[in-house]
Amino acid sequence: MSGDTETERLAELAKRRGFFSRTAAAYGGVAGFYTYGPQGAALKDNLEAAWRDRFVTREGHMEISAPTVMPEPVFEASGHLETFNDMLVECAECGASHRADHLVEDAAADVEDAEALPNREVADLLAEFGIVCPSCGADLAGEPVEEFNLMFETNIGPGDSSPGYLRPETAQGIFVEFPQFAEYARNQLPFGVAQIGRAYRNEISPRKGLVRLRELTQAELEHFVDPEDDEAPLGRVADVTLPLYSVPQQQADDGAVQELTVREAVEEGVVGSDWIAYYLGISKRWYEQIGVDMDRFRYRQHLPGELSHYASDTWDGESEIDGDWIELTGFAYRGSYDLDRHAEYSEKDYTVFKQYDEPVTVERPTVDPDMSYLGPEFGEDAADVADALEALAEREPDAFEGDSVAIEVDDEVQTVPVEHTGFAIEEVTESGEHVRPHTVEPSFGVDRLVYTVLAHAYRQDEVDGERRTYLSVPADVAPTTVGVFPLMDKDGLDDRAREVARTLRGAGLAVTYDDSGAIGRRYRRQDEVGTPFCVTVDYDTPADDTVTVRERDSTAQKRVPVADLPDTLTALRDGDRSFEDL
Ligand code: GLY
Repeated sequence: MSGDTETERLAELAKRRGFFSRTAAAYGGVAGFYTYGPQGAALKDNLEAAWRDRFVTREGHMEISAPTVMPEPVFEASGHLETFNDMLVECAECGASHRADHLVEDAAADVEDAEALPNREVADLLAEFGIVCPSCGADLAGEPVEEFNLMFETNIGPGDSSPGYLRPETAQGIFVEFPQFAEYARNQLPFGVAQIGRAYRNEISPRKGLVRLRELTQAELEHFVDPEDDEAPLGRVADVTLPLYSVPQQQADDGAVQELTVREAVEEGVVGSDWIAYYLGISKRWYEQIGVDMDRFRYRQHLPGELSHYASDTWDGESEIDGDWIELTGFAYRGSYDLDRHAEYSEKDYTVFKQYDEPVTVERPTVDPDMSYLGPEFGEDAADVADALEALAEREPDAFEGDSVAIEVDDEVQTVPVEHTGFAIEEVTESGEHVRPHTVEPSFGVDRLVYTVLAHAYRQDEVDGERRTYLSVPADVAPTTVGVFPLMDKDGLDDRAREVARTLRGAGLAVTYDDSGAIGRRYRRQDEVGTPFCVTVDYDTPADDTVTVRERDSTAQKRVPVADLPDTLTALRDGDRSFEDL
């Protein structure tokens, strides 16, 4: 039975037609895990291929593939061990776990961003609004709200000596290997490194099907730019109109989505980073191309308390389903946070060497401490004193202008006569400098894209007096491109239809062959999985070597010579020809 909401209708269709279903249903299922059936897996593959084409190939970026398990130090450095937490409240009565911030947001109309509040305040709001456990109805007032780390922990190898974690974002597999990728890019900024792969989040209470998963697929791009010199190629997208819901608009009483071009958004300072604006522009075109309904789409800026620990500014691409806004993509300005942290924790070089056009001569303060003085004077601290003098000369050369300098070693202030420091200003010729790039990150949740494309493609109409359901997905992302049928499963029509199917498969088209049931039912089956074209071999085919090609949305039919089918259907799929012009 079809349900009343988009979510219910989609769940029913998804299970019946092989898009997705709850994993291990035979054992009661497990929240937050879904298995893609043949249609869903094909749709997901096609969306990933479209993403790769747009965000990797056409942008000239590199794609890599890193492991899904990483050792603990990676996530100490990334900050996920400390801060990748959600707010947990447990019911004392039945033991069920819930996202405390979500319960508060659902109950209190004027609280939109409970995640940004301190835990104590969220606990107070649970009591103030009389919020009860959604599982058993017990009062949650007085229950503590605690931090719950979302990473799945594991042990690498036997025993527990080497803790590891399933990656909560694919991004860290890129950041941690930055030095080698910079070498592959010949130390030339800007360059981008992309990855499509699984990530894992031990969500407290996953809900809404593919929207909140514990195992998900991300398509992420880390674009490394020189913050001083690299400007985004805004000219390519300057006139693309963006539906922007900025922080000031969200905070205003009568705030609304503003329609601004990329150029206006940057010039008016609504989007602070030209790189973020660039990616909003190319993504907007891409979302449209893959079938996201632009009347149900917006870019929303993160409120200050909502920002991830690594981001200074983030815009989410959001789609609307059943009245809720769903984050499809986060466009985050991560600055130098990740590379700074990996450099600090690993003590390795996470910079690129930027060569100057011409060598430059600069004045450089140096020290050459007199160890025959420092040794007797400072004993075992002498080497640390020398290091501290070198650091001070670099940081604050003016400190050497007097007779003595004060430095701090092990929390104690030491004084050294300048004559024993060997301080001098030298002229040195430099061919370049080390730069710590900034990162701009478009991060796409692939499962949510699958879900949105399906929800926005879902249509119902009436054909020949019967109600029909069809998915109006673009031809180049549809799981199957062509359904091939014999009108009757006899008189040689079946052999001819199988031959047509084989030829079309050989031409690289995704084809399904169906000879079961009435022809009308076969069309309906393909309509429900979004197959854009169906080819029927009928009694005219042996006589004139033509077949019927039927288009899904209009249900219009045309006769096409069998010999032309591979080229014609390929051109229709790729948008190089339109059905009306056949
Ligand atoms: N890499 C961003 C995220 O996983 O949310």
